Amino acid sequence: RLGITRAAVWKQIAKLRQRGYVIEASTRLGYRLSAQPEPLEQERILELLGDHPFRQHMIVLDSVDSTNNYLKLLAGQGAPHGTIAIADEQTGGRGRQGRSFASPKGVGLYYSLLLRPDCAPAEASHLTAMVAVAVCDAIEAAAGVRPGIKWTNDIILNEKKLVGILCESVSYGYQQQGRGILCGIGINLAQPQSYFDAADLPHGTSLALQGAAVDLATDPAWLAEGLTDFGFDRNLYTFARDGFAPFREEYKAACVNLGRRVTFDLPDGSQGAGEAVDVDAEGRLVVRTDAGEQHVFTGEVSVHGIYGAV
Ligand code: BTN
Repeated sequence: RLGITRAAVWKQIAKLRQRGYVIEASTRLGYRLSAQPEPLEQERILELLGDHPFRQHMIVLDSVDSTNNYLKLLAGQGAPHGTIAIADEQTGGRGRQGRSFASPKGVGLYYSLLLRPDCAPAEASHLTAMVAVAVCDAIEAAAGVRPGIKWTNDIILNEKKLVGILCESVSYGYQQQGRGILCGIGINLAQPQSYFDAADLPHGTSLALQGAAVDLATDPAWLAEGLTDFGFDRNLYTFARDGFAPFREEYKAACVNLGRRVTFDLPDGSQGAGEAVDVDAEGRLVVRTDAGEQHVFTGEVSVHGIYGAV
């Protein structure tokens, strides 16, 4: 009817996908639009980002189940390095260890970045510690407060959780040749105490509650800072070349576990305890226990005095 070829339609579909439209394709049936960005907000944010390189691939959503899920779909459609999906609300925000991440509308910054670091998949698993350092830097630059890191990557302020980070690797495409890492970041900006009380999140806090209020609507500099100047592009280059090592000292300086008593999960399901004394070159937490030093690389670690742990 339009008098154009299938190839021309396909080209337009590819363009829409690049702009954040999730379009399913089925042989002989055609295409189906299953999710789309919120165009007005997107325009505003793009304006704020000026000519920053991340501007090219920024997708703004009004509401989505999870920006990580959304970006995973786009990654499968070939979205490039640096693609960002940001949402005003998540209805099914996901956290580490299969937990959920509460993401109410208009009071947080919830977003995911698709990264394709130029390094081996094994090395990429240390990326999460680098991301934690980058997030602390950005919050300090934007809000004037320096948060700490509870190993591995809870960002905390005054012993309460301010930011959650969920990094996941994705592979897709013909013979899974496409690879990438999704870094999902959720920053509590403006929730009042009554919100955390009602949601039964006694260990949560927001920047506003900590006296460092930011308003995304009226403070565009914060938005640009938070989204783009996390130093991801700059840090990723260093990370791809030298791994976690260059970030280790900064990570240790921010790590609230060090010098405190911690309890951690052992691979056999039991628990160990001791004093956290170091973070090694691989980003593992070194704990001095009665049985000698243990290098903890996965699972939950609770820290005496934080989140009510004893
Ligand atoms: C955690 O604290 O366990 C990690 C929480 C990660 C939350 C962010 S918000 C943006 C992105 N989308 C998700 O579904 N999760 C991450």
